[in-house]
Amino acid sequence: MMQKIVNFIQTLYNTKEFIPLHEPKFIGNEKKYLNECIDSTFVSSVGKFVDRFEEEFAAYVGSKYAVAVVNGTAALHVSLRLAEVQEGDEVITQPLTFVATCNAISYCGAKSIFVDVDLDSMGMSPQSLENFLEKNCEIQDNQCINKATKKVIRACVPMHTFGHPCKIDEIQKICETWHITLVEDAAESLGSFYKNKHTGTFGKLGAFSFNGNKIITSGGGGVIVTDDEVLAKKAKHLTTTAKLPHDYEYIHDIVAYNYRMPNLNASLLVAQMEELEKFLASKRSLTEEYTNFFTQFDDINLIQEPHGTRSNYWLQAVLLKDKENRDALLHYTNENGVMTRPIWKLMSELEMFRDCQKTDLSNAEYLQERVVNLPSSVRL
Ligand SMILES: Cc1ncc(COP(=O)(O)O)c(C=O)c1O
Repeated sequence: MMQKIVNFIQTLYNTKEFIPLHEPKFIGNEKKYLNECIDSTFVSSVGKFVDRFEEEFAAYVGSKYAVAVVNGTAALHVSLRLAEVQEGDEVITQPLTFVATCNAISYCGAKSIFVDVDLDSMGMSPQSLENFLEKNCEIQDNQCINKATKKVIRACVPMHTFGHPCKIDEIQKICETWHITLVEDAAESLGSFYKNKHTGTFGKLGAFSFNGNKIITSGGGGVIVTDDEVLAKKAKHLTTTAKLPHDYEYIHDIVAYNYRMPNLNASLLVAQMEELEKFLASKRSLTEEYTNFFTQFDDINLIQEPHGTRSNYWLQAVLLKDKENRDALLHYTNENGVMTRPIWKLMSELEMFRDCQKTDLSNAEYLQERVVNLPSSVRL
């Protein structure tokens, strides 16, 4: 079976050379726009490509505003700051995520609380979230208070794992009921829709990443989306050193960040956005081929988009019978020039988050032992 899998992936990518997990594709106007950007000399913190990207991105996802930043982690950090997460607060998230989600919570001086994920989406389980809140929290002065710690639970950060949308409308309702601000970690889910609405646009704020391994990339980059004009303005201010507009004077009114996306990166991103539909179609055809291929094996299945969603299938993932089978697949494929990866180690098991409060995490633990990512690069 192992050799069959390696052979199949080699035919998918039409090579016997090393096959990476995900490589970027630059097949459109990338060089043209980069050259235009260099020729203009506006390669840094101002320039037309940043504005153009923000407009086009907001229009694509259907949010009123988009603010481009240096990376997805910065987008999350600033989104949490705008959700007024502060020192001593608590933020609910999922243990099955990339470490940046929890790092951003920690940057604000807040502590993560982990609730379980659903098996189908691998994203936050509304049931687990609601159970946690009902058992452990109460509303006081329009704030959600954790009865055990007496701290305010200020925000909730679900994540759309590998581009598969989680049950975000249910999570949104629960957050509303409990006076918790919803911030979506949509880093992996550009092009993914939940009931025809783009991921990242359900929360008060949403954060996306354009790291080199994402569906489109600017080398490094991120964006914050929101429908709230005041928050959008604050996002811009907070990510641009809080400089007050003036022709020549340097006046800054708060301690802020230098998180603005350089125009050079934005020029690459504008070109990548033009390719997005092609990339999404290519991912779906890859999913179809993987799905058909794996039907011949009983103990390994390609994870499909949850019901009612349209996933971008950013990273293809299979579910194996147990950890032993998972390790055998990881070992064989990596030994034979096909890059595969396990899902992340749970955040709740990492040294720095081990003492965070958590619910029963059976589903996250189950997935941690069984999920493997397969080569997922766009084929064009
Ligand atoms: C779920 C998730 N959150 C946050 C990030 C952080 O994005 P970046 O690497 O652009 O900082 C990533 C990806 O890198 C991610 O996968």
